[in-house]
Amino acid sequence: MTLPDITYTLRTASPAKTRAEAVVVGIGQGAKAVEVTAGAEDVKAAYGRRWPGMLATLGVSGKAGEITRLPAGNEIGAQLLVLVGLGKPGADGNYSADAVRRAAGAAARAVPNATSVAVSLPADTPDLVRAVTEGYVLGGYTYTTYKSNNGKSGKDSSGPSDVAILSAIARRTDAVTAFEEAQVLAQAVAGTREWVNIPPADLTPPSFADAIAHVAGLVEGVETTVYDEEQLAELGCGGILAVGMGSAAMPRLVELTYSPDDARGHIALVGKGITFDSGGLTIKPGSSMSTMKSDMAGAAAVAQATFAIARLGLPVKVSAFVPMAENMVSGSSYRPGDVVTHYGGTTVEVSNMDAEGRMILADALVRATEVSPDLILDVATLTGHMVMALGDRVSGVLGSEDVVDRVLAAADVAGEQMWPMPIPEWMDERIRSSKVADLNQHDWIRWGGGLYAAAFLREFTGGLPWAHLDIAGPSFNSGGASGHLTPGGTGVAVATLVDYVREMATDQ
Ligand code: BES
Ligand code: ZN
Ligand code: MN
Repeated sequence: MTLPDITYTLRTASPAKTRAEAVVVGIGQGAKAVEVTAGAEDVKAAYGRRWPGMLATLGVSGKAGEITRLPAGNEIGAQLLVLVGLGKPGADGNYSADAVRRAAGAAARAVPNATSVAVSLPADTPDLVRAVTEGYVLGGYTYTTYKSNNGKSGKDSSGPSDVAILSAIARRTDAVTAFEEAQVLAQAVAGTREWVNIPPADLTPPSFADAIAHVAGLVEGVETTVYDEEQLAELGCGGILAVGMGSAAMPRLVELTYSPDDARGHIALVGKGITFDSGGLTIKPGSSMSTMKSDMAGAAAVAQATFAIARLGLPVKVSAFVPMAENMVSGSSYRPGDVVTHYGGTTVEVSNMDAEGRMILADALVRATEVSPDLILDVATLTGHMVMALGDRVSGVLGSEDVVDRVLAAADVAGEQMWPMPIPEWMDERIRSSKVADLNQHDWIRWGGGLYAAAFLREFTGGLPWAHLDIAGPSFNSGGASGHLTPGGTGVAVATLVDYVREMATDQ
């Protein structure tokens, strides 16, 4: 994994007195002036009357993500002072966990080679401790596997380092728990980014299945079953096979279970694992194909969320279903007019080989209903329509009203942007319009394609409470680093899934 080798500690120390190579201090845009954020007042005090003039000379504005680095004299214990902007505080005068998470992410990239860093950002509640920790860990993520010398230049010696997160409540057990849990979560998000970033020739269904099974073997309490193409044929997973058999790399279905003794509920997770989406015979134009190695982001998120839930020991049973296929063009590709029989027997007439996600998810959803979970969540880079509707930072959530509401609440806690979308009842007519099969995979009407896809998936949920998370936009960042977001895979949905389960654990 391409996370720097950092040991994190949570401490009550004062940012002015802490001895470290660098100390990070938050700067916000207060009502009247640029202000240091809570907890870092003693750094300002150490500079005395020179502080305002110094910030003015440097042009420090406190704008979100702004980084200013200055060598420190004898005023403070650290050799380098790093100021990171948080933008404007909320109406209550406080900085939100989201703003803190982003600032911590930007700070992590400001001093990549420091061997010791102290971070003083607003952290006087467990939620803020969590935000600083997650932000710092994730902001430092880089994908260097294929860079010569792991992306390091000859001179830079970025070895192991110590990062101290400073918090007034560092000794409280709820703060320590938040700090430790944030690291587990951030590892899972980084693990998701890593899988998404692997080039598609090196992450095929068989190798992806192996990678998941390998990690699962390291996590106590998680059991794995991998079905290969022959076993899929025996099971009758016609959707996974139809999409997968067009590739030289054979399809897989991975099933994970985490079943704690004290389980207070049971959630089934389903994730789309298309390791590369060429569009099949309805081939995509080159420009749309260029990021399609990320079409397994839902699968990666679901697997990593399961690992995080197990590592956190949350008292909820998780059954995860991860169908994997590569959608390619060949003599064995599935074709328009084919009728596919899904696991469980439903038949589907197919017409667009680029609507492959729903084909592999359908089999997996039916598998999920068989374990009788309390609910099913599926996560998929399913439609470009959702990107058109919501942009590339907001995921769409569709399905049973109460489950959708709970997903949105979990996303809010997790710091991920999600938005509800409807499944209009007249969609049912469209998905039932096939003259030869039970359902119609696609109908060439472009409008509402993301809603059509969800209506289609719902047919395979057995009437169980269910929500579908369309992460086509937010799963991949084609731009540069910003806050805790880094280029490439983002790991979106992992945090929301974990917070959903955390909330279930508190249900009576
Ligand atoms: N993997 C794509 C969706 C996608 C688009 C993900 C953009 C990430 C960014 C999916 O398999 C697909 O091709 N969907 C089609 C659906 C259509 C054929 C109904 C689409 O978006 O056009
Ligand atoms: Zn796809
Ligand atoms: Mn597609």
